[in-house]
Amino acid sequence: MDIETFRAEAHRMVDWMADYLSNVESYPVRAQVKPGEIAAALPGEPPLQPETMERIFDDFQRDVMPGVTHWQHPSFFAYFTANSSPPSVLAEMLTATLGAQCMLWQTSPAATEMETRVLDWLRQMTGLPDVFTGVIQDSASGAILCAILTAREKATDWAVNRDGLKAVPRLTAYTSGETHSATEKGVKIAGLGAENLRIVPVDDGFSMRPDALEAMIREDIAAGAKPAIVVASLGATGVGAVDPLRPIGEICKKYGIFLHVDAAWAGSAWILPETRWMFDGIEYVDSLVFNPHKWLFTNFDCAAHYVRAPDDLIKTLTILPEFLKSREQGQVIDYRDWSVPLGRRFRALKLWFVIRSYGVEGLQAMIRAHIDLAEAFETWVREDAAFELVAPRSLALVTFRFRPREEADEAHLDVLNERLVNALNDSGSVYVTQTRVRGQYAIRFNIGQTWTERRHVEAAWAAIRETALALPESASG
Ligand SMILES: Cc1ncc(COP(=O)(O)O)c(C=O)c1O
Repeated sequence: MDIETFRAEAHRMVDWMADYLSNVESYPVRAQVKPGEIAAALPGEPPLQPETMERIFDDFQRDVMPGVTHWQHPSFFAYFTANSSPPSVLAEMLTATLGAQCMLWQTSPAATEMETRVLDWLRQMTGLPDVFTGVIQDSASGAILCAILTAREKATDWAVNRDGLKAVPRLTAYTSGETHSATEKGVKIAGLGAENLRIVPVDDGFSMRPDALEAMIREDIAAGAKPAIVVASLGATGVGAVDPLRPIGEICKKYGIFLHVDAAWAGSAWILPETRWMFDGIEYVDSLVFNPHKWLFTNFDCAAHYVRAPDDLIKTLTILPEFLKSREQGQVIDYRDWSVPLGRRFRALKLWFVIRSYGVEGLQAMIRAHIDLAEAFETWVREDAAFELVAPRSLALVTFRFRPREEADEAHLDVLNERLVNALNDSGSVYVTQTRVRGQYAIRFNIGQTWTERRHVEAAWAAIRETALALPESASG
């Protein structure tokens, strides 16, 4: 494609992008296609001859768009959001155009130096202490893996990197049953073994019980194991549980255990001072992660990983073949040593655009509005006799279920609520997802989409009520 065609096509697509964002509400939130439907529209063999962009773009609109779930739809209340914003999209366009691979300072000094600067802005914005140094990872899972690998090496004085796991005692990790599955994945990848991930019981508020944690640690030490890491959650996925950092941190200090905090979702809300009560005990934390790509209006991928001792992370991951050496080595940061992949995109640019474009106060107002809407939604659920809250609201996450007054059979309630979720999502008007709370099926309603207004939340609540009461099996219907 020549540059003048690129210019014309880019203008056309930017118009399409602006139209899409203005009309996103007209799409069904969750794609309504059946498995295999999109694949069937895509030719089985690649084209031998060039095709025009006009044709490719037509096919994109006709064959691909029906299979897209619209994460930027204001009625997206599923999972946690992956929200974005116009300034973030513009920065992504520039990043793609530059196409820089930013593994070393030398391969794009601006990317490295902006990453350092912007992560320090983010640290200040969230009120994290200045003992933390940040790096952008592709995902919270990537950051958790880095934390587990660093903990493994620290616990064994870097013996595993050299000699492998056979040479060291059995290493154990600890987390609560509320923690995201990324921790188990990391434990498996790091070679600790899923059996050595100990699931610490939670209290009535779904927070890790420090007494149970300590009892498990003592038991494992008595059995000859070496406890390596505790992964605590601030805003876990199921119901947004918050673990108590201070007592957990004191235990970690007492037994010399690495403490990582997973705040993938909730961390963005720390730009609001009123959420920082979760930090009590932060002085014990070795590393933490949160995802601006979830709730800070910054396109996926962008996970902010903060470490207290960057040298430990670097020592764990460093590899220096001749072809990666550079003249500036030692005087500059080469982020290649801070994460599992060598190659890195210029991800700081979108954060820089977002933070400057909205300003800290603008971002605070947007997140505060989400939390206020969740508070209103929580009140509506509480006041409706046919529904019940199954966990306390956590920031902008409300977990509830349909419970018609006369229905007491738990198994039947599970069936009813599952049908409700499917009916809502099949309607295309909203998108919600489920979890299990104390074994029972429950509906998660998370507010965090960039474009969500009160009218969308009101419409969602009306749809939930009407759909629930119309379920054929509902005694109230
Ligand atoms: C609390 C929590 N931790 C970790 C993750 C994994 O995030 P990522 O997709 O960035 O690996 C999620 C994803 O939703 C999450 O909710």
